[in-house]
Amino acid sequence: MTKDHGATVSDGSPLVALHAGPPAFTRLFWVEQKETYADSLRAHQAAHPNNNISVYQGDANARVDDVLTELPRVYPVFAFLDPRGPELSWQTVRKLASHKATGFPRVELLILFAYNMALARLMPHRPELMVNEHELDRFMPDRERWREIYAKRSLFTAPVTCSPKLRSLISWILPENTPGRTHAQEQIH
Ligand SMILES: C[S@@+](CC[C@H](N)C(=O)[O-])C[C@H]1O[C@@H](n2cnc3c(N)ncnc32)[C@H](O)[C@@H]1O
Repeated sequence: MTKDHGATVSDGSPLVALHAGPPAFTRLFWVEQKETYADSLRAHQAAHPNNNISVYQGDANARVDDVLTELPRVYPVFAFLDPRGPELSWQTVRKLASHKATGFPRVELLILFAYNMALARLMPHRPELMVNEHELDRFMPDRERWREIYAKRSLFTAPVTCSPKLRSLISWILPENTPGRTHAQEQIH
């Protein structure tokens, strides 16, 4: 961590992996879609000529095939899949999971499942507003299963609760005869 103009800057996962150990990683594969971020990774690669680092620019779901041609099938492998949202395709997870040779431990996977940041937003409470099936089919492991769970979603909805203080505040903010006041009070218990 360094202090830069008062802001605290933390290493991202590529640099965390670079400095991990001992034992250190003997090979590192960094995949980034955005050109400027990939340039930054290349700069770190150039600054560490004694580390065996490969940088791939492009969609990780496509570039994973290039990585897999280089990735050992018998040595231990750790893969960190860290999407911002729903960019990760389940096919990519499957490819990594089935890469190792028979009898060797599988690739260890650490996956950020971006539920609040992305997936919950792709699933509207009113199913008639759903327009993201295609994206969810790509991201989710099972096309039928996520639909089943989504259909039951209303059963998971928790009752809206609030403290007596908040309830009296609402009564105070919304004077008698305000349209919707009764409805608002009924909604909170
Ligand atoms: C949550 S950040 C993770 C960054 C990194 N793991 C770290 O700790 O600093 C997600 C990164 O994935 C990149 N990204 C988004 N979609 C991608 C894709 N389809 N393929 C490769 N990288 C992608 C974004 O540009 C962003 O840099």
